[in-house]
Amino acid sequence: MWGRLWPLLLSFLAATAVPGPSLRRPSRELDTLNLKRQWEPGLGGKAQNYSTLLLEEASARLLVGARGALYSLSANDIGDGAHKEIHWEASPEMRSKCHQKGKNNQTECFNHVRFLQRLNSTHLYACGTHAFQPLCAAIDAEAFTLPTSFEEGKEKCPYDPARGFTGLIIDGGLYTATRYEFRSTPDIRRSRHPHSLRTEETPMHWLNDAEFVFSVLVRESKASAVGDDDKVYYFFTERATEEGSGSFPQSRSSHRVARVARVCKGDLGGKKILQKKWTSFLKARLICHIPLYETLRGVCSLDADTSSRTHFYAVFTLSTQWSTLEASAICRYDLAEMQAVFAGPYMEYQDGSRRWGRYEGGVPEPRPGSCITDSLRNQGYNSSQDLPSLVLDFVKLHPLMARPVVPTRGRPLLLKRNVRYTHLTGTPVTTPAGPTYDLLFLGTADGWIHKAVVLGSGMHIIEETQVFREAQSVENLVISLLQHSLYVGASSGVIQLPLSSCLRYRSCYDCILARDPYCGWDTGTQACVTATTAANRTALIQDIERGNQGCENSRDTGPPPPLKTRSVLRGDDVLLPCDQPSNLARALWLFNGSLGLSDGQGGYRVGVDGLLVTDAQPEHSGNYGCYAEENGLRTLLASYSLSVRPATPAPAPQAPATAGAQLAPDVRLLYVLAIAALGGLCLILASSLLYVACLREGRRGRRRKYSLGRASRAGGSAVQLQTVSGQCPGEEDEGDDEEGAEGLEGSCLQIIPGEGAPAPPPPPPPPPPAELTNGLVALPSRLRRMNGNSYVLLRQSNNGVPAGPCSFAEELSRILEKRKHTQLVEQLDESSV
Ligand SMILES: *[C@@H]1O[C@H](CO)[C@@H](O)[C@H](O)[C@H]1NC(C)=O
Ligand SMILES: *[C@@H]1O[C@H](CO)[C@@H](O)[C@H](O)[C@H]1NC(C)=O
Ligand SMILES: *[C@@H]1O[C@H](CO)[C@@H](O)[C@H](O)[C@H]1NC(C)=O
Ligand SMILES: *[C@@H]1O[C@H](CO)[C@@H](O)[C@H](O)[C@H]1NC(C)=O
Ligand SMILES: *[C@@H]1O[C@H](CO)[C@@H](O)[C@H](O)[C@H]1NC(C)=O
Ligand SMILES: *[C@@H]1O[C@H](CO)[C@@H](O)[C@H](O)[C@H]1NC(C)=O
Repeated sequence: MWGRLWPLLLSFLAATAVPGPSLRRPSRELDTLNLKRQWEPGLGGKAQNYSTLLLEEASARLLVGARGALYSLSANDIGDGAHKEIHWEASPEMRSKCHQKGKNNQTECFNHVRFLQRLNSTHLYACGTHAFQPLCAAIDAEAFTLPTSFEEGKEKCPYDPARGFTGLIIDGGLYTATRYEFRSTPDIRRSRHPHSLRTEETPMHWLNDAEFVFSVLVRESKASAVGDDDKVYYFFTERATEEGSGSFPQSRSSHRVARVARVCKGDLGGKKILQKKWTSFLKARLICHIPLYETLRGVCSLDADTSSRTHFYAVFTLSTQWSTLEASAICRYDLAEMQAVFAGPYMEYQDGSRRWGRYEGGVPEPRPGSCITDSLRNQGYNSSQDLPSLVLDFVKLHPLMARPVVPTRGRPLLLKRNVRYTHLTGTPVTTPAGPTYDLLFLGTADGWIHKAVVLGSGMHIIEETQVFREAQSVENLVISLLQHSLYVGASSGVIQLPLSSCLRYRSCYDCILARDPYCGWDTGTQACVTATTAANRTALIQDIERGNQGCENSRDTGPPPPLKTRSVLRGDDVLLPCDQPSNLARALWLFNGSLGLSDGQGGYRVGVDGLLVTDAQPEHSGNYGCYAEENGLRTLLASYSLSVRPATPAPAPQAPATAGAQLAPDVRLLYVLAIAALGGLCLILASSLLYVACLREGRRGRRRKYSLGRASRAGGSAVQLQTVSGQCPGEEDEGDDEEGAEGLEGSCLQIIPGEGAPAPPPPPPPPPPAELTNGLVALPSRLRRMNGNSYVLLRQSNNGVPAGPCSFAEELSRILEKRKHTQLVEQLDESSV
């Protein structure tokens, strides 16, 4: 239902035309490839599942495996129209057979291309599910046409299009991992190779209900002093058989854990024992933040060519026990840690106690599960086939290591609630100053891309971009450094994004606050430029680690925001609006230039949209300054002069009334008309907003702040419609502490007068320059407002979280109720400056 309402909400917000800080909008720089429909005649469905991507940098082609088709796109501009295509669909007979087997003919009984890799210098190799009868084909890359004959695919490709699968072609051999046939157990296989291999199933399964996520070849032979072999690492989630007791007694059999396994590339299997089976298979538990986050969703490897620097990033979501909540964790792992675990103690199934425990006995030589190295060759073990039976028997029974692989720094880099990451990729970026930072791109289950930089202190999310209008899972991500592009594959299409767009940061502070390793402030041209291509890299200002230093001399301070005057009656409530420029910024209010105001004290409430003064008293009179504080930088956003007047209509306050009475009758009529128009407008806006609020009710988890009414800042209208809401520290509510953005649930409208006369509905969004004329030049621009995001490290509960901005909902309902009748008129009087 939400999917249908979302456009409605969008169009409503577009109509009211005021983008709030967290109303994240699609980037305008997208090149969308919309290949759908044309190639799925008779279906009319949008589902094309563009989920298999292969980038060929040398020829600048992006190859896409989709449902029923393969495409070859120009990597430079995937939407340039010069693409080639191959139809590769399952025949109607195949599909009806598939349907008869009980499979879904709307989603499953198609040819989903799951595998697409370079085979040799002339050919590609692709496999498709082919309506649950997998087929593979060697495709001439130049001609880009299907061959006349196909290869059987049941040993190489999953039957089920949704089943976890990973595959590589290494030196012509096919290394695939998935569950292959209808009911067979999961397996890591090597095929198209003189020595086909698979995992062992008797007397114990080496893999249990495994769901594969990722695999990678690590060139450990390169520069190895001991003549080590290259290894293939596999990442997956599987049923934990070794969990004895502890946290999951009730769900012991369904408890799933993340694993990493590895095999040696040169493995030839055993001669009598472990014939045609891996002799080098070892697996270990992968720990990120247990017992909460144990479902592996995505893994990427960095520097896999240089094993001394190889490391991995993995995304986890909550384990099935908590599947109603949405949250993700990201951990980093070093290859060295994995190597140490695989060189450590083994686990063993103890028949007596029917449990897994650490193996304490003697370990045979050569060490079981190790690759053939120089020292083994010197001992006469030229290949795995020469290994003694004792060693292979041990391998058969001891696939699991005792020690788990723990993340770098022992903890997650990022925990993020209300987000379900589905995929990630990354690349190291070397900055002009020397240090290299890992830049990650994370795809979410609802079609967003989060770009993040890994810092010494954790992870910083640089921006969030909605790349698909329709919520859909990001299925694949590929980076091209040559094209400076990120390719995103999902159900409805492929999208190409620039790796960075520094030009949109308009000031020095904006540029360094973003902390994008690709971006630096060029003091010569006074622009935020791509650091890796800048003409004079020494003249660039960057501060990736701290994000606040270097701009001291280039700060171009705009004019200070104009002082606004507010005059209220004693006992009234008044809101002094002030929007924060970035989700990362913190609001700071100073009274009479020095006294910092804190929430809940002295009748003040500090909200995300402004300062609420409740039950105003004469001592509240004075000057109020609203500052944005981000990363130690403080900028004045708004200043107000508030005067509180006695409420009792004593003789003196007759004046305004007299003034009113002295107005000419037609002026008064105009005035009344204006007020009526204003009232009507407010009512319409209020009901639309409340309607939208109701639409949002059913949807927990996504919390955003909609701030309607920044019009006065742009110098236009007098009426400000504010939704002010927030979260109470005690509220049972995930995520707000991370997002700093609030939902509309329970929020309310406040109508407050602005400067000048009543005016028509808020105009369309002010062009950026208008926004920048208001003293905001020095700090984050609108784009960062939309894209910047906050995060929380290692915070599982709200315990100990400092009291954040609190909800004004109740206060404001009360105020609205009051003002609906009498206060509105009075307020208009009061505020005319
Ligand atoms: C293909 O796309 C459809 C529609 O978005 C989706 O329902 C289905 O799960 C996708 N299939 C796979 C295997 O991703
Ligand atoms: C799927 O199967 C249903 C029931 O047999 C049939 O009515 C429908 O036409 C089939 N759809 C397609 C696309 O084959
Ligand atoms: C590449 O592989 C294909 C399919 O096996 C084969 O026909 C072709 O001759 C190979 N090309 C080269 C250059 O080895
Ligand atoms: C291993 O290779 C060496 C040299 O290639 C050879 O002399 C030796 O006999 C081989 N050993 C076995 C067990 O095959
Ligand atoms: C680069 O910038 C530095 C610092 O501003 C300056 O000293 C140097 O001359 C510049 N080099 C070039 C080639 O412009
Ligand atoms: C704040 O300043 C106003 C006017 O400048 C003054 O009337 C008021 O007493 C001051 N309040 C305090 C608490 O200093």
